[in-house]
Amino acid sequence: MIHYEQYLKEKLIPEDALQKRIAELGAEISRDYADSTNLLLICILRGGVMFLTDLMRHITVPHAIDFMAVSSYGAGNRESQGAVYIKMDLMTDIGGRDVLIVEDIVDSGYTLSSVLQLLSTRKPASINICTLLDKEERRKVEVPIKYTGFVIPNKFVFGYGLDLDELFRNLPFIGVVDLDKYDVQKP
Ligand code: IMP
Ligand code: MG
Repeated sequence: MIHYEQYLKEKLIPEDALQKRIAELGAEISRDYADSTNLLLICILRGGVMFLTDLMRHITVPHAIDFMAVSSYGAGNRESQGAVYIKMDLMTDIGGRDVLIVEDIVDSGYTLSSVLQLLSTRKPASINICTLLDKEERRKVEVPIKYTGFVIPNKFVFGYGLDLDELFRNLPFIGVVDLDKYDVQKP
């Protein structure tokens, strides 16, 4: 059986640091949206799931959740190519809602800038982004991020929602992939 430790170079963000920061983000969001009556958290599948479920426990403002899945055109390696298309759309009409997008990681920025553009056409009352991780130095297009958990270096990471070929999303920490032992370009 394969074990994540084979591919783990280092633990980048341990569980307690993640949970502490997520509690802070939840408190900040709760303050900012204290007057909102129709907050909707939108989780980008699948990487954002762990973050969403932990984050929402710290959001004291009543809110709904919904999910969408997107994919890059020309996906096959792990680098975004530009525009994205919707693989699974929301079930909620976001018109007039206060929307907060919850994402695992912003890398080039292509994914979130497309999602933001697309959802804006549906006329939400407001739309903001909350990302757990930000690989700032990799940005190709600007994305207005309102809430950031951690700015991280340009390393391929996994765990806590992020996968290695669909595995290991369940790990409670963020780890760096050992590229000598795992080929991340493999489709
Ligand atoms: P962007 O469109 O380049 O900003 O890419 C964002 C998406 O790329 C994320 O939602 C992730 O699915 C994926 N991604 C980027 N970096 C990593 C990483 O280090 N580990 C796992 N997935 C990543
Ligand atoms: Mg993602």
